[in-house]
Amino acid sequence: MIISGKDLSARLKAEMAAEVAGFPGKYGRVPHLVVILVGDDPASMSYVKGKAKASEVVGIRNTTIRKPADITEAELLGLIAGLNADDSVDGILVQLPLPAHISEPKVIEAIDKSKDVDGFHPLNVAALWQKQPCTLPCTPKGIIRMLKSAGVGISGKRAVVIGRSNIVGLPVAKLLLDENATVTIAHSRTADLPSVTKEAEILVVAIGRPRFVTADMVSDGAVVIDVGVNRDPETGRLCGDVDFEAVEPKASVISPVPGGVGPMTICCLMENTIECFLRRYTPDSI
Ligand code: GUN
Repeated sequence: MIISGKDLSARLKAEMAAEVAGFPGKYGRVPHLVVILVGDDPASMSYVKGKAKASEVVGIRNTTIRKPADITEAELLGLIAGLNADDSVDGILVQLPLPAHISEPKVIEAIDKSKDVDGFHPLNVAALWQKQPCTLPCTPKGIIRMLKSAGVGISGKRAVVIGRSNIVGLPVAKLLLDENATVTIAHSRTADLPSVTKEAEILVVAIGRPRFVTADMVSDGAVVIDVGVNRDPETGRLCGDVDFEAVEPKASVISPVPGGVGPMTICCLMENTIECFLRRYTPDSI
């Protein structure tokens, strides 16, 4: 079974659009997401375009602010401070990666926690690990949604996550743990990685290497979630971290690239923007 993140996200966005359509009547306005893009990296430009398009589908107001790659860190922090103070803005997202002269941790921390639609702010991350209410990071949240919609039971399963980044590996491992999976976090320096991945009933791959996971690394009937977005070095086409053609026959469930996790990330960004908007009207929430 191939899980289509594209179809699931289309369904979820249609549901959100119906909800958002009622907001002007209830709240006098729709949620407003501001996306900041620094420089002109083609991959980042394409992600930012995807976020604007999804906002349009859901009925969320989207402002994309483009800044040149040589913007100073102080200027960027000043821009964020202005957006934090702007009552018409519900969500702020700075597209990563940033140019080397700008500190990503500083920028992430500068975004008001209540407008942190990425769920990257240290206070959101701390809340996640302390089992407190928080904004969940979009990609891990989207992966859990995909698994549940595919009818994959997570509780009691052995899950292996390859990758330990702040954006995907660590938080997806935490969310799987919270769903009562037994989780192993593996990485590029794990000794005898195939012996670890072959134990996985659920395998999540977020290592950023084209076709890294081969058929011999996957056990029969495993659920395989591919978070990779790479260029195939031979064809130049988009490909995942999993050798899809080789692994698909062994897997019970697998997510494709493109059309798998990617659309779910954007879908959950829309959901997080709506959550940040609604929290402003419910004073007791986080
Ligand atoms: N770059 C790659 N993925 C992401 C993401 O989820 N959020 C942001 N802000 N930048 C990214």
